[in-house]
Amino acid sequence: MRIGVLGTGMVGRALAGKLRELGHDLVVGSRVAGDDAQPFAEAAAHGELIVNATNGAYALDALAQAGAENLRGKILVDVTNPLDFSKGFPPSLFVSNTDSLGEQIQKELPDTKVVKSFNTINCEVMVDAARAGGESDLFVSGNDPEAKATVSRFAREQFGWKNVVDLGDITTSRGTEAYLLLWIRLYGALKTGDFNIKIVKK
Ligand SMILES: NC(=O)c1ccc[n+]([C@@H]2O[C@H](COP(=O)([O-])OP(=O)(O)OC[C@H]3O[C@@H](n4cnc5c(N)ncnc54)[C@H](OP(=O)(O)O)[C@@H]3O)[C@@H](O)[C@H]2O)c1
Repeated sequence: MRIGVLGTGMVGRALAGKLRELGHDLVVGSRVAGDDAQPFAEAAAHGELIVNATNGAYALDALAQAGAENLRGKILVDVTNPLDFSKGFPPSLFVSNTDSLGEQIQKELPDTKVVKSFNTINCEVMVDAARAGGESDLFVSGNDPEAKATVSRFAREQFGWKNVVDLGDITTSRGTEAYLLLWIRLYGALKTGDFNIKIVKK
């Protein structure tokens, strides 16, 4: 599959590494072209599926560089979190409660099918569900049911995510983004990023 990964941080690198290993035709997007990356717009134009793995504070800027026309009609898997490190650690959220970064991105790109997912797990776990230690849950949020089904299938077939919970429309990103406040404290307490949520119900 032709995939554009927007982002050259640890998430972009983890996703690109795994997707290349799986044989996908990949272009990684960055502000500046380099050995391993092309401009955001080229990665967006290349992909049938696009992953937004840019810094949350600059995600809208990066997507503007990617270009709405290059993203039109496509699925954008948004893994970003609205973390604000301006006052140090632990970070707060720069958008929360009644809004989310997922919603802001969807508003900015009305012709793109934004699916918020993978933002609740460490990047090494994203691409290898078993790494969390047993079966656990992945969430999808978005306005387009088919796009969410496509992302769920992709997550299962490519990365081993058997349990995907469809939370509902893009406003449900508010919950998964706010979970980061707990994720960060769990990371501190458990001293590893190899963990995840498992939903139990009767
Ligand atoms: N780390 C994890 O395991 C994890 C897990 C779940 C979700 N997330 C989320 O995934 C996203 C990526 O995280 P990360 O740690 O891999 O990388 P990051 O350092 O948060 O972001 C790196 C990317 O953001 C771009 N960027 C930075 N400043 C920019 C600006 N002013 N304008 C446009 N683009 C800019 C960079 O562009 P250049 O390529 O040009 O440098 C780079 O591609 C974040 O939103 C994070 O919250 C991370």
